[in-house]
Amino acid sequence: MQEKDASPHGFLPRFQHFATQAIHVGQEPEQWTSQAVVPPISLSTTFKQGAPGRHLGFEYSRSGNPTRNCLEKAVAALDGAKYSLAFASGLAATVTVTHLLKAGDQIICMDDVYGGTNRYFRQVATEFGLKISFVDCSKTKLLEAAITPETKLVWIETPTNPILKMIDIEACAHTVHKHGDIILVVDNTFMSAYFQRPLALGADICMYSATKYMNGHSDVVMGLVSLNSERLHDRLRFLQNCSGRAGSAAMAHGPRRSAACGILPDRGANPVPLHRQADAQPLRHQGSPPLFFLKKYIYLFIYLFLAVLGLRCCAWAFSSCGEQGLLFVAVHGLLIAVASLVAEHGF
Ligand SMILES: Cc1ncc(COP(=O)(O)O)c(C=O)c1O
Repeated sequence: MQEKDASPHGFLPRFQHFATQAIHVGQEPEQWTSQAVVPPISLSTTFKQGAPGRHLGFEYSRSGNPTRNCLEKAVAALDGAKYSLAFASGLAATVTVTHLLKAGDQIICMDDVYGGTNRYFRQVATEFGLKISFVDCSKTKLLEAAITPETKLVWIETPTNPILKMIDIEACAHTVHKHGDIILVVDNTFMSAYFQRPLALGADICMYSATKYMNGHSDVVMGLVSLNSERLHDRLRFLQNCSGRAGSAAMAHGPRRSAACGILPDRGANPVPLHRQADAQPLRHQGSPPLFFLKKYIYLFIYLFLAVLGLRCCAWAFSSCGEQGLLFVAVHGLLIAVASLVAEHGF
């Protein structure tokens, strides 16, 4: 398991071996008699039993599927977690986590969260007797003040969707755990495991809409949950099976069938480092803000200068050179192209 490392710069160092884990963990070819390096898609709903109740770990795909297992192992490694569970969608994961509670329990939810999470808590969970309070958890004092003996779960997102508020996960975990057995859930959809590992910062559950960055291809609806507690894991696994959220919804939707088995997000998790590095790239290349803006103005100036020069050439060509004007139109086009290239790629 990955621990949180100290950093002399105030930033956490990069997670070690992320790319290697993304392409290897849970996908060892030795587990298949074929030695396939890409996990085979196991579409079977049912598995042979030697005798009733005697099987090799799989009996029915809702409760366990070899390909989904590969994904869960890979995600657990990427999150520095002991366990991971794959769900039919991000919201299916949210609903299953909420089922850890019972009527009368209170959830404290960040005051800015994904609309679907807000809608589920406000309009559905309350109907089942859960109390929901929306609190700005970026202010630890407000979080602390909102905790009551009924509080059993704190739900945060950081950065939040939609207004990108940032929350100190460690401070939240500290506050929440002072009050006993309260579960801190972090929806890590926006950061992904590549940029942020909430479990290492004290969260109890890290949750994703894998429909976003953790798959990265915009062709799968799926949810993920990572955690270290064996007790919570066993209960969630039970609830996942009881409520059929592991993929039965996806099974019904043709192409989503493979998503249910985990192969698409499994493939999606492979290039997560590439995608997320690309996301961070523009920031890295900007340098310091003043230099960034200075460079932009220089490019703009060159672009305008060349454009005006080109236009003057054209005007002159058409009015005084007749058909030779075409040559100047070409020159103008060339100048604009050079300017655009410079603007895009720098000097
Ligand atoms: C931050 C966040 N959490 C959860 C969800 C819900 O996930 P899904 O759409 O996979 O059910 C979304 C979806 O946009 C989201 O942005």
